[in-house]
Amino acid sequence: MEIKIAFYDFKPYDAEFFDRVNKKFGYSISYFRERLSPDTAVLSSGHRAVCAFVNDNIDSRVIDRLSSVGVELIALRSAGYNNVDLKAAFRKIHVLRVPEYSPHAVAEHAVALMLSLNRKTHKSYYRTRDHNFSITGLMGFDMNSRTAGIIGTGKIGKIAARILGGFGMKVLLYDPFPDKEFASNTGFRYRSLESLYSESDIISLHCPLNPDTYRIIDSGAIDKMKPGVMIINTGRGKLIDTAALIEGLNSGKVGSAGLDVYEEESEYFFEDFSEEIISDETLLKLLNYPNVLVTSHQGFFTREAMGNIANTTLNNIKGYFEESNLENEICYRCESEPCRRGHEGGCFAK
Ligand code: NAI
Repeated sequence: MEIKIAFYDFKPYDAEFFDRVNKKFGYSISYFRERLSPDTAVLSSGHRAVCAFVNDNIDSRVIDRLSSVGVELIALRSAGYNNVDLKAAFRKIHVLRVPEYSPHAVAEHAVALMLSLNRKTHKSYYRTRDHNFSITGLMGFDMNSRTAGIIGTGKIGKIAARILGGFGMKVLLYDPFPDKEFASNTGFRYRSLESLYSESDIISLHCPLNPDTYRIIDSGAIDKMKPGVMIINTGRGKLIDTAALIEGLNSGKVGSAGLDVYEEESEYFFEDFSEEIISDETLLKLLNYPNVLVTSHQGFFTREAMGNIANTTLNNIKGYFEESNLENEICYRCESEPCRRGHEGGCFAK
């Protein structure tokens, strides 16, 4: 039977990579510009697989509707899966993800935000374009010898740590599951969150969004930080309590912030609103601070990452339909992939 894939939240750059990689798979892909929602789930009729992205809200209503029109598999073309109600999907629809596509892409973007905020290249660009060659107000600091705190030392956090170590920064790490070998190989130190907060000049978030990390950066955390701290978030928007961040920026406690993700990004990110009125006043406020740099969830967006995403996503689909291979399935009980803890039927036996 022909395998048809309903591809939501499609952008033209997706087709460039998926169409090229799909030549070796030969699936039929229906590209939908719509985001996946209870109203658009019906577009999946006649498709056995759905391909979804970070701002598709895959709640229990969406899952029930997809299941009722015969969808067996949700292939996320992302690493994060906080947008999926895995419990609702259990025994109805398999959920697979792309656990790794280019951790370098995201780590490098995090560092790009740090360097821009520090040396204010985003401002110099506009100044010199306007023939204003003054450097007043553009002073930064040497990264060398400063302290960086990395929260979450998985694939991306480790690469960010190594890059910052290359600048000669002292790197502090926090992770509830520390990788001691990484620490001993690099000489970086694991610390408690409290000491990471109090000692770091730059704090970069690389942990997943889950109940433990929801608004991990709140006013209590900011209180413990160094005055003038730089906060970088390329993880997920809801890792930061934006109101607390704004309070910190207003008081000067937070010196600068680089945000590739934002709590309420799903309304705006990835879309062109340049001719429209933005009603999200918090976002407007963030965009207006001279010491805040917002990018539109582009950390992943490199050629290498896009090629890997297309390849792993289509391989995941092939694995499920042709090889009974669910290597990248997410188990709702242990939230790892594959379920290695022997839960009944694995994660969800086919
Ligand atoms: P990973 O799974 O390799 O690493 C995550 C690390 O966070 C693990 O070591 C885990 O133990 C740690 N962690 C779990 N709970 C924690 C807690 N309470 N506090 C601190 N650390 C905790 O994931 P990877 O590939 O490094 O990605 C990290 C996150 O980056 C993803 O979950 C995703 O949200 C985000 N991401 C953002 C992208 C972007 O375009 N901006 C693209 C890809 C991922």
